[in-house]
Amino acid sequence: MSDDAQKGNLRETLRSCLRGISPVDVPILKPAGMATIAIAQPHQFPCMHEITRCAFAEYDGKLNPPSAAVTITLDELTEQMAEGGGVLAYVDGIPVGSALFRLRPDHLYIGRLSVLPAMRGRGIASAILDYMEIIAAAAGLSEMRLGTRVSMERNIALYERHGYLITSEQPHPVTAGPDKVVWMTRRLN
Ligand SMILES: CC(C)(COP(=O)(O)OP(=O)(O)OC[C@H]1O[C@@H](n2cnc3c(N)ncnc32)[C@H](O)[C@@H]1OP(=O)(O)O)[C@@H](O)C(=O)NCCC(=O)NCCS
Repeated sequence: MSDDAQKGNLRETLRSCLRGISPVDVPILKPAGMATIAIAQPHQFPCMHEITRCAFAEYDGKLNPPSAAVTITLDELTEQMAEGGGVLAYVDGIPVGSALFRLRPDHLYIGRLSVLPAMRGRGIASAILDYMEIIAAAAGLSEMRLGTRVSMERNIALYERHGYLITSEQPHPVTAGPDKVVWMTRRLN
């Protein structure tokens, strides 16, 4: 199948799978409460962008090579969702977390997982990761993939708790620097 035909198929899968996915309410901790996780609509992409920039600001000047998420523009974030979409997490109706996903022929890629600093440690990123499994299943995909950095040990621990296994460690694909990208995969079912 040609690249264009494959992209066309993926976009059609995307449209039909996203239509059928409803928001979910999940319990969160410290203090106990509820979060709502939902697919982001295009008019909410600026909100995702704000959350991403706030969440990744802590890495500004601290990573080598730097994370593109620190300086990402709204256009870049939107472009990265062209073959997928976004997820938003709300607490008391306020958006506090987000992530993007991309449909690939054999897996769902998850990127830019972000939770506002004041809302961390309550299980919001975990709830977003669980929701990504619903999206993957709706798209008929049985594998999820994501990348983090060797230096981000707490992130690696978070993903391992969610069943992700390290598949490789590689130099950053775009920028030179000592910190490596850790690729992780989770098989569903
Ligand atoms: C990573 C991140 C999304 C976790 O969000 P969260 O809602 O706090 O995650 P959860 O509550 O579901 O799980 C908490 C776990 O997240 C991981 N974590 C990583 N950085 C963390 C942080 N700064 N604060 C709290 N937890 C963090 C830890 O494993 C933590 O468990 P621990 O407290 O036992 O160490 C959030 O810290 C964040 O936005 N960080 C900056 C952006 C980033 O690194 N994104 C991931 C890129 S691969």
